[in-house]
Amino acid sequence: MDYRLINIHIFGNNHAVVENQFNILHDLPHVSLKRTVDSNFTGALDKQSAGSDIIILNLSEHALLELKSLENTDTAGKSLVVIGDKSNVNLLSVAISVGVTEFIDQRSYQDNLFKIINKIIFNRTEAYRGSKKRKLNAIVNAKGGSGGSVIASNIAYVLSTFKDSKVALLDMDLQFGTLGLNFDLAPKYTIVDVFNSISDIDVVSLEAYMVNYSDRLKLLLPSSNDIILPGEIPSTAIKALLSMLQRNYNQIVIDLPRIIDPLTTTIVEQADNVAIVVQQTLAQFRDSKRLIQILNKDLDIPLDKIVIIINRYDPKNSLKKSDLVEMVNHQNVFTIANDFEKVSSASNLGEPFCKTSPNSKIAEDLKRLAMFLGEEHETPKKNSIVNRLKGLFV
Ligand SMILES: Nc1ncnc2c1ncn2[C@@H]1O[C@H](COP(=O)(O)OP(=O)(O)O)[C@@H](O)[C@H]1O
Ligand SMILES: [Mg+2]
Repeated sequence: MDYRLINIHIFGNNHAVVENQFNILHDLPHVSLKRTVDSNFTGALDKQSAGSDIIILNLSEHALLELKSLENTDTAGKSLVVIGDKSNVNLLSVAISVGVTEFIDQRSYQDNLFKIINKIIFNRTEAYRGSKKRKLNAIVNAKGGSGGSVIASNIAYVLSTFKDSKVALLDMDLQFGTLGLNFDLAPKYTIVDVFNSISDIDVVSLEAYMVNYSDRLKLLLPSSNDIILPGEIPSTAIKALLSMLQRNYNQIVIDLPRIIDPLTTTIVEQADNVAIVVQQTLAQFRDSKRLIQILNKDLDIPLDKIVIIINRYDPKNSLKKSDLVEMVNHQNVFTIANDFEKVSSASNLGEPFCKTSPNSKIAEDLKRLAMFLGEEHETPKKNSIVNRLKGLFV
């Protein structure tokens, strides 16, 4: 099963039209559809479209203002589809300047809407599937108990449901790690065994040290019987392990303890993303600011590789995501809902909650995060005018 859920949000001021479009798109697979009917939908556009992959705007007689409102909307990574009067050249040129992906004429949307949205979804999904790049994501908690291990486990599980993926999940909390319990798995050979015999191990024999959750998800786990001191493992051993893993797996997820030693330093240096898990308290928000500084200033990790995850996020809490963004001056922030019941019942079953409650809010949040971490993130090339025009006139 492919977990790549696409979020589509339709905005407009005509109830019947929006309803009709909703019905046209209703049966697309792996799609989550929302609609907002409001005579002044531009006011709340930025807030309401957050989390959408595709925004569909039905332009009214205030079309120009509505298009301009896209300038104040966070549209990064989103596909913008506008339905309006395509014979109005002025509207078309404004549409191009605000980055609209497709302009559909209002008179013919019934024939074109499904086809165009289907094409956008196909392109977005293929872009992901076609990526051959190996990704290494390190998950660090700002404090024990923040949820680092549960989140790393679920990210690895979600990534393993993507087509053609092979995922390795490593628990680097060599002394106290219990990540295996999230899958009801215990190691036969441990990660410390791997380090002890690293010079004798090759890509084939490494597989014998991994614990199978499924064909696509394998774990490398520590054991509380291993006595190992922080700093004891040389960075050459971890480099050798990572390079062997990268030959066998296209997604590597590492649950890291918050210790700065040669082992963790080598991993964060090699990672494509370093995700810091915090809870929604002022103290942890401050901690994350310090961690970002250590990673960026002391370890030279570029800021765009650093992701903050606010776990157990409660939107009613007076401390908001925007407060964190402001405090740490960092935009790459995700939230994961608080759901004691789903998390603890999954934990009792020894399964990831994304498997036991795939449609819950917490699983949706997690999937969005996993999709971000699992994809390639090259700086988007500025779309040329010619390409944008091509998009507008299909
Ligand atoms: N979003 C959440 N909602 C509810 N409970 C959670 C959530 N995230 C984590 N937990 C619970 O918090 C506890 C600590 O999680 P864990 O992943 O072990 O933290 P860490 O690895 O950061 O020490 C676990 O009992 C876990 O089930
Ligand atoms: Mg942990």
